[in-house]
Amino acid sequence: MAKVTGLDGIVAAETDIGHVDGENGHLIYRGYWAKELAVHYEYEEIAHLLWVGKLPDASEKQQFTARLASSRELPLTVRRLLDNIPREMPIMSVLQTAIALLSGEFSWPPTLEQAISLTAVVPTIIAYSYRSQLGLAPIEPDNQLSHTANYLYMLTGKQPEPAHIKALNAYLILGMEHGMNASTFAARVVLSTQSDMASAVSAAVGAMKGPLHGGAPTEVIAMLDAIGNKEHAEAWIRQALERGDRLMGFGHRIYKTRDPRAEALRHVTEALSSNDPWFDLAIHVEKTAIALLEEYKPGRRLYTNVEFFAASIMRAIALPSELFTPTFTAARVVGWSAHLLEQAQVNRIFRPQSVYTGPMPE
Ligand code: ACO
Repeated sequence: MAKVTGLDGIVAAETDIGHVDGENGHLIYRGYWAKELAVHYEYEEIAHLLWVGKLPDASEKQQFTARLASSRELPLTVRRLLDNIPREMPIMSVLQTAIALLSGEFSWPPTLEQAISLTAVVPTIIAYSYRSQLGLAPIEPDNQLSHTANYLYMLTGKQPEPAHIKALNAYLILGMEHGMNASTFAARVVLSTQSDMASAVSAAVGAMKGPLHGGAPTEVIAMLDAIGNKEHAEAWIRQALERGDRLMGFGHRIYKTRDPRAEALRHVTEALSSNDPWFDLAIHVEKTAIALLEEYKPGRRLYTNVEFFAASIMRAIALPSELFTPTFTAARVVGWSAHLLEQAQVNRIFRPQSVYTGPMPE
């Protein structure tokens, strides 16, 4: 019998939230193309779409934006935790711990209000812990700024450039939702026990930080830094594939064609990095690697995934690599919480089976 691994092709839930069509390279959020939402709408509007099921009108947008903005401050318990946590702890671990701590204030069933407060506070936790690791004083949230602009402001203390806000906003929207990926599944499994939304999101953060999921962009930067220049690209990639290494930022369980998020982010990054030699190298590595992957892994249809260009966009807006996966988390928390609201509507505890392959008693 074939090995049963990775739940490949198994349907774990029905959902109205997002559709990933891997054969055609389509990503749809509640009836809209995600790549179009990413360039024409703001984070708050797409959070509303994913949670409530429709784009807000002008007055709904205003009220909803104000609700999110008013929940940005750290609860005292979290602030105390962050002030006492060892500085060298990775930000994803800090985030997971802080969200787990919030679970004391959450209870079943999950609500829109809970989704708003978790989503609003995630960037504040990231920025607080990032600055504290650098020995810098925290920057309090500015409720006059949009969700995306305020995140950049809390990291740097400076008013962010409009081009950076636009690029990050597109990235955050494209990162919000992606069907039954590992972290979303982890969140739904935890909630299915009638545990609370914060516990489920904390579990999702734990799944997100692995290098096969949300940890990849940091590795993409490391790979491009190691390659160094276009002349070395082919030899470097060949050696990696000869060793049996995985090229970070390539391949996807579902997409067997170009990842539409990668395509959209490439355009957004191009606008920011037209004369950047690093971006030029990234484009060259993409082309070279796709050809070599076809040579070494024929028929596997391996292309760049969202993480490859996430790395480029983060670099273009000057976010350091330790913020890559946390920033992806600040996007995906919207999708997780939308799935948790949906899970509660149809809840039945997840309980798959395993096939016993060990010895039987004599
Ligand atoms: N580099 C080289 N070979 C690869 C890569 C890669 N990036 N990805 C898959 N392959 C190969 C595998 O070695 C395997 O070859 P084989 O059939 O000769 O054994 C074949 O392609 C199929 O690979 P699977 O492991 O079955 O693919 P799976 O669907 O389980 O994995 C994953 C998907 C984890 C994303 C994988 O492509 C990978 O490890 N990519 C690199 C890490 C990465 O970029 N992660 C970010 C994903 S996007 C996200 O999570 C938001």
